[in-house]
Amino acid sequence: MIERENSNIATSELEKQQQYMQKMKAYLSEWEQKTGRKQSYFVLTTGCQMNAHDSEKLAGMLENMGYIASLTEENADFVIYNTCCIRENAEEKVYGRLGRLKYYKNKNKHMKIAICGCMTQQDIVIEKLQKSYKFVDIVFGTFNLYKLPELLYHSIKTEGTLFDIWKDAGEIVEDIPTVYKNAFQASVNATYGCENFCAYCIVPYVRGKERSRKPDDIINEIQKLVNNGAKEIMLLGQNVNSYGKNLEAPITFAQLLQKINEIEGLQRIRFMTSHPKDLSDELIETMKNCKKVCNYIHLPIQSGSSEILKHMNRRYTKQQYLELVKKLKTAIPDITISTDIIVGFPGETEQDFQETLDVIRQVKYCTAFTFIYSKRTGTPAAKMENQVPDEVVKDRFQRLLDVLNGVVEEVHKNQIGKTVEILVEEVSKQNSNVLTGRTESNILVHFEGTKDLIGSILPVKIVDSKTFYVIGERI
Ligand code: SAH
Ligand code: SF4
Ligand code: F3S
Repeated sequence: MIERENSNIATSELEKQQQYMQKMKAYLSEWEQKTGRKQSYFVLTTGCQMNAHDSEKLAGMLENMGYIASLTEENADFVIYNTCCIRENAEEKVYGRLGRLKYYKNKNKHMKIAICGCMTQQDIVIEKLQKSYKFVDIVFGTFNLYKLPELLYHSIKTEGTLFDIWKDAGEIVEDIPTVYKNAFQASVNATYGCENFCAYCIVPYVRGKERSRKPDDIINEIQKLVNNGAKEIMLLGQNVNSYGKNLEAPITFAQLLQKINEIEGLQRIRFMTSHPKDLSDELIETMKNCKKVCNYIHLPIQSGSSEILKHMNRRYTKQQYLELVKKLKTAIPDITISTDIIVGFPGETEQDFQETLDVIRQVKYCTAFTFIYSKRTGTPAAKMENQVPDEVVKDRFQRLLDVLNGVVEEVHKNQIGKTVEILVEEVSKQNSNVLTGRTESNILVHFEGTKDLIGSILPVKIVDSKTFYVIGERI
């Protein structure tokens, strides 16, 4: 019963926004008749893949209203910053860019500016925007992204900044129009939010409790994408492998993967991010047995020291993590593994840091995203007293990169001689005769070819390697 009620709320929300999209369409077409040109939009994404996928929905709603994409923000009629606050420098960049945007708006008075995403879920940011960034027209958050049409319509009809920030998530609103990055590869939300409360991390405070989409909603979306040419999908969630626990009819992430594996025409299934504490044997078996599930996993370790992991509230030890890696490699011998690492968490000693280097050497990651710990107000770690001095962190960070690059280079070198299938993604930015693609195990391959191959899956032979990619030849 409750479920019906809730889904009705979500459906009526979508209908309401569709009406606002129609109103905006009428407004924009009148504007076009007066001026002889269409209005354009520019979306800036500063965050993770989930943030980027939200931007695809923002773009989808805007195109539905009649806006056209602008390549630069300087000349756009509507500019929207979809922000991230995971580290301090992500926020600083946004403030810096907003300064420049004010200058553009002074030249182009009818420009509308919106800011949304994780940053705006913090009171301290709202206060700053209210005080020093009065030229911003709309400020909204992560829980009401789908309200863009309504907010934009009201903003056009009124003066001043419109703030609409919710403290918690409402129902999941499905079927928001989306512009996917390309036809052959698409991101699909599996879960929203996170309730792990790792001691350093702001995400649970700005993205709310973990919610899972219903399996049928996910499968229907993927089916539609496949009908439109999608070959590879990426299932997204902050802790994607805990999917399904809170559904009315709970299912496991492995079971979801098994269902998706049956979608005809789909060729590759990826997912991120997996939390080590939720990496079940069932999931490893499913990765092994489901042909379409790629033999690659992003498995953030954060630190190799069990002591630091305890303070981080990660809920696994170094030993447990290494056990998992062993299980993965035994079940799927050609699997590749990537990770996230934080250097300089409060209390990290040289010995703790050495444990992290030890894990890197043992696991042999194909890539790692490395971060200097950034203090986030409101998180437990921000109150910890034993913060590590900057010079010590910088020195460790450099040593971390040195060890990591050696390992990454070795993983790439080990690919030489293999014949693999790649999904061709784009023309190389450095050389227009070279294309790039990715193997099932997420190894980046450069090879000579022509643009018409983009989007196809091809066999190549790996003939050489660099630190971060390999060189292939078509066969
Ligand atoms: N949900 C994912 C990742 C979310 S954020 C997970 O649990 O692994 C992406 C990465 O940013 C994290 O894995 C972590 O390495 C890093 N990160 C998060 N908070 C940080 C902070 N305060 N300082 C530095 N890096 C941080
Ligand atoms: Fe942040 Fe931890 Fe959640 Fe990842 S699992 S988003 S690091 S709280
Ligand atoms: Fe950043 Fe929010 Fe993603 S804080 S990392 S954009 S969930």
